[in-house]
Amino acid sequence: MSGRVAVITGASQGIGRSTAIRLARDFGALVLVARNKAKLEETAKAAGEAGSQVLVIDADLGEAAAAQYVVDETLSAFGRIDALLNIAGAVPQIDLFEMTDQQWEDGLALKLHGARRLTIAAWPALKKVQGSVVLMSGNSAIFPKAPYAAVGTINAAIVALAKAFSDRGIADGVQVNSVLPGPVMTGRRQSYLEHWAPLHGMTVEDATAKFPQEAGIARYGEPDEIAELMAFLVSPGAHWMTGSALRMDGGEVKSI
Ligand SMILES: NC(=O)c1ccc[n+]([C@@H]2O[C@H](COP(=O)([O-])OP(=O)(O)OC[C@H]3O[C@@H](n4cnc5c(N)ncnc54)[C@H](OP(=O)(O)O)[C@@H]3O)[C@@H](O)[C@H]2O)c1
Repeated sequence: MSGRVAVITGASQGIGRSTAIRLARDFGALVLVARNKAKLEETAKAAGEAGSQVLVIDADLGEAAAAQYVVDETLSAFGRIDALLNIAGAVPQIDLFEMTDQQWEDGLALKLHGARRLTIAAWPALKKVQGSVVLMSGNSAIFPKAPYAAVGTINAAIVALAKAFSDRGIADGVQVNSVLPGPVMTGRRQSYLEHWAPLHGMTVEDATAKFPQEAGIARYGEPDEIAELMAFLVSPGAHWMTGSALRMDGGEVKSI
């Protein structure tokens, strides 16, 4: 796998950063995408120490032109794309009855359309090498709630989008899956808890301590744990797994 190239979005922090560092063990070259260049460089340093060549691209994936730019830069640097991991996401966590059209558009622009555009732009390169795509969803797709309606709605759309890509991928030899994490302790989870705490009459500290119990899990997930699932999904051993929506959630979803 040392000649393979992976593109990872949202690699400046959280799950994307952990995934990049994990994939550095398996891929010869990584392309790290997000807006914050300084944080991307920190991830690149850690991934480089793990043995991979790294290209950093600071781009706003909510903007339409970014997708082709990322693909062009990747192909110009490394000549191929074996895996695309769409992890970037920043859907506003606002009540269904308060969220404005613009806030909906902003959430959709990055997480749904950014991932859709980048996957389409990378598709010819992925098809050429029979590559793999992962789209990041989340458990809220399964139980959407009014206080964070856009998060659940967009995550459900991501699962459907991944399924549609996987349908085309059967003919084109491209494997596509979505991943639904439960509560993973990252900057985004901390901001979620800042919203969740007052709704449940708690301080953020109390909410952080009590949330796992409220969610019916023993503890928060670690970004490194999701990174292991990502690494498996883009490994040759997983190539027959396609069109799947994989949960990794400490048992948060109680149904089958
Ligand atoms: N943490 C959880 O509990 C959890 C649960 C389920 C699903 N998820 C999903 O997992 C993904 C990662 O979550 P996380 O918790 O690791 O979040 P995070 O720490 O907030 O990281 C989000 C990443 O997205 C990037 N990003 C945001 N806006 C961007 C834009 N316009 N263009 C390019 N990159 C952008 C950020 O980088 P810059 O700011 O540098 O651009 C950052 O690297 C998200 O899609 C999230 O919805 C998380």
